[in-house]
Amino acid sequence: WGSMRGMTAEQKERVAVFLDRAADFLRHGYKTPRGQYDFKDREDVSAPGAEAGDCLEKVAEAIAACAGCGLAGTRTKTVPGEGVRRPLVVVVGEGPGAEEDAWGKPFVGNAGQLLTKMLGAIRLSRERNCFILNVVKCRPPRNREPAPEEIAACGPFLSRQIALLEPRAILCVGRTPARTLLKSAEPIGSLRGRFFEYAGIPLIATYHPSALLRDQSLKRPTWEDLKKLRDRLAALDEGYAREARESDAP
Ligand code: URA
Repeated sequence: WGSMRGMTAEQKERVAVFLDRAADFLRHGYKTPRGQYDFKDREDVSAPGAEAGDCLEKVAEAIAACAGCGLAGTRTKTVPGEGVRRPLVVVVGEGPGAEEDAWGKPFVGNAGQLLTKMLGAIRLSRERNCFILNVVKCRPPRNREPAPEEIAACGPFLSRQIALLEPRAILCVGRTPARTLLKSAEPIGSLRGRFFEYAGIPLIATYHPSALLRDQSLKRPTWEDLKKLRDRLAALDEGYAREARESDAP
């Protein structure tokens, strides 16, 4: 393991992918919930932003070195995102809060705990089948909404990450990710609960867990949105459908 220190970003990425696959193998046998992995090089990326030879480690390194907007001057840690490679779902939030800024990990505060429960209700988790990231990778001071120029500066990171992750679906939590990925100015109330496409990937938006913590009445519509995502994933992925059926069995 000491020799990992001298590895290139691509080599580290390969080790990380191998460990993900090994963990999946131990849990699920040869067939992972996403189907069988292939080791081909990424020359076929379909979403905008990533090129052959790119990898998540390189994106995280570029994020850590980024001074592309004013948020670089006030952040503690960058928050590139975390989860499994080749996830079923990429969950996109707005931007890090205080706890995320301190830890360098997405959704680890109160909203994060609720997000974990929301995902768990439809058999999703960052440990097994999701990757969680944000539109902006540095904390906006006092948790304000990121400014358009901050969102624009982080845009290439987001599109590269989604292209590399190749999720089966994208879940946007809150209006900032929904508006950003859909290039829309509509309110979240009209964007949520409907399927769109981002670079050919089905995308659905729902309310942000922070909004649910403030307003209990948003829980029911959020649950309706999550069920739509669950049904779409079950139609797209046999492994997920089987798991969801088995865990729903009495
Ligand atoms: N809210 C977000 O949108 N993202 C986080 O990572 C934490 C809170």
